[in-house]
Amino acid sequence: MSVILGIDIGGSGIKGAPVDTRTGKLMAERRRIPTPEGAAPDAIRAVVTELVQHFGLDGPVGVTFPGIVQRGHTLSAANVHPDWVGLNADALFTEATGHEVHLINDADAAGLAEARFGAGQGEDGTVLVLTFGTGIGSALIHRGTLIPNTELGHLWLRDKHAETWASDRARERDDLNWKQWSKRACTYLQHLELLFSPDLFIIGGGISKKAEKWQGHLKLDRSRVVPARLLNEAGIIGAAMMAAGTAPDLDAAPSETAPSEDAPKPAKARPARKAPARPRKA
Ligand code: BGC
Repeated sequence: MSVILGIDIGGSGIKGAPVDTRTGKLMAERRRIPTPEGAAPDAIRAVVTELVQHFGLDGPVGVTFPGIVQRGHTLSAANVHPDWVGLNADALFTEATGHEVHLINDADAAGLAEARFGAGQGEDGTVLVLTFGTGIGSALIHRGTLIPNTELGHLWLRDKHAETWASDRARERDDLNWKQWSKRACTYLQHLELLFSPDLFIIGGGISKKAEKWQGHLKLDRSRVVPARLLNEAGIIGAAMMAAGTAPDLDAAPSETAPSEDAPKPAKARPARKAPARPRKA
């Protein structure tokens, strides 16, 4: 089966479309429903079910989630309701929709899609896809193989939490112009370049639509930096690839909805760090 429904859960909208997973093309117009206030599991489950019914496709469904996803469980919730932490969301959606649901982190889905069908097509080395939006998502891909849940938006740059300081939300919150924001993004990318030496950075999320504003300012010594090509379809396409089995199976999930004893443990949020204390004058 190659036409699979992909659903992308985002901070402001939940979007779905059938995808031809051999070509990465959407086979019908995308449908978008605003994300319910608070983004709690029950409310999101209802929207996902509505999208599945709307398209009426047979077969498995791929769904993205903006947090850590391990063996079908959602283990962190930086920008959604805390009730997601520790939930077997894969089983929750599977029971609600009556379809086999495969869950994947949103940036990992976007990364898989960009690497196969977008700006990383044909790239042979290491690709780091970063999505700048409410948060910063990351996907690390080496020769087509994804290392899931890298969560590089949560790195610390001295006393700055990368996502809180350099996301698109931070740009809006701090009223930065594009040059000012690019300076922050460049500091972050330079650090990632030092850690991972990617051949290519792909910059996705909402800002990929405005590449002309930042592209001239985001240059690195060793890695190339390019805007994502699939824009806001990347998550939908990657989710469908995952469910079609054309991406590595990252989510073999137990079937119950409550966290079980052998369910993976939720990630602990790291407390905000204080700025290092200044040495006292003698
Ligand atoms: C989450 C990531 C997610 C990113 C983009 C971060 O806050 O921890 O899992 O990929 O936001 O939505």
